[in-house]
Amino acid sequence: MKLGPSIVSADLTCLVNVVKELEKNGIDFYHVDVMDGHFVPNITVGPDFVKNLRKITQKPIEAHLMISRPDIYAERFIEAGADMITVHIENEFYIEALKKIKNVKKGIAINPDTGLERIMPLLDEIDFVLVMTVKPGFSGQKFMVETIPKISKLREIQKNYSFEISVDGGINRETVSNIKSYVDMICAASGIFSGSIAENIKALKN
Ligand code: DX5
Ligand code: ZN
Repeated sequence: MKLGPSIVSADLTCLVNVVKELEKNGIDFYHVDVMDGHFVPNITVGPDFVKNLRKITQKPIEAHLMISRPDIYAERFIEAGADMITVHIENEFYIEALKKIKNVKKGIAINPDTGLERIMPLLDEIDFVLVMTVKPGFSGQKFMVETIPKISKLREIQKNYSFEISVDGGINRETVSNIKSYVDMICAASGIFSGSIAENIKALKN
């Protein structure tokens, strides 16, 4: 199971040191939460953040686009150095956005109250599904147990395809046991950054 810290929730005043600490402890990729205050009620970072992160790491970078126009901005994140771009199925421009994602991995994110039938037609063309286990917008929310059946169902469906399954929201050393047998990747902010990074990563990986 690959682990991706939701890096915008780190202490950004010392990003270089945080990156060193994360990599020393064996994280696998970076999950960058991109929010525009319109698609979700919060604002975070843009392509320039990815460009700077790219300078200080060789690990894959995922841009989780929670913005109203992923079709307009996806290429900017690829140019900035993102290796994986994630677009929400709930976004009205998701088809146009997926078309713009070339030469990097394509992910489709699905909110807690959206049914799996919405993403079924895309499963052949995407590289991973990001199942949201909280409502997108803020870190530090509680893992929604009602998403567990959806994740286990997706694990069944996965047998006929080649996509990977990732989860995002409220994952920590306690909640991870609910989903660990159904997922290939996990993203976490508070589960990694609240308390000791080293101990949290060790607990999540075991
Ligand atoms: C939620 C974001 C998540 C969030 C995770 O909108 O997509 O990536 O930062 O934060 P935690 O792990 O604290 O729930
Ligand atoms: Zn995210």
